[in-house]
Amino acid sequence: MNGSRTISAYFAEDHDRLDELFTSFQSLKRSDFPGAKAAFEKFKIGLQRHIVWEEDVLFPLWEEKTGMSDGGPTFVMRAEHRQIVERLNAIYAEVAEGSPDSDRDEAALLQLLGAHNMKEERVLYPAIDQVTTPDECRDVFAKMEQIPEERYRSCCGARQP
Ligand SMILES: [Fe+2]
Ligand SMILES: [Fe+2]
Repeated sequence: MNGSRTISAYFAEDHDRLDELFTSFQSLKRSDFPGAKAAFEKFKIGLQRHIVWEEDVLFPLWEEKTGMSDGGPTFVMRAEHRQIVERLNAIYAEVAEGSPDSDRDEAALLQLLGAHNMKEERVLYPAIDQVTTPDECRDVFAKMEQIPEERYRSCCGARQP
């Protein structure tokens, strides 16, 4: 998987892909609910996968290389993931009930995710690229590929319908 690409480029592209899925969900939910639900499910699994990639593979590499864990940037990013997942699950509960009325949670999620992704893209990912050798970068992508689907399909307390 993308052995020659930077961590910044790969993860920022995944943010963009997830943003597009969420935009589809929002634009379809009052006209084509099944279509909106399908986009939301892809978004939810994709975001859970992204968080597992970061928390299980990428952040531990940074923590190991820099010795920064508690109180460092990945500590803050992990805490923000918990807030993001809380909103994600609140929207999921509405979608699972067939209700499009999750606007407030959607706005809250977008605000959290926007600020979070910007910090990762502007600060953390470039810093990780700086301390990572090409071999380590390849290793990150290889480890991400090896994560079993069950790890992120069922994470965050909600199995897909
Ligand atoms: Fe993150
Ligand atoms: Fe991210």
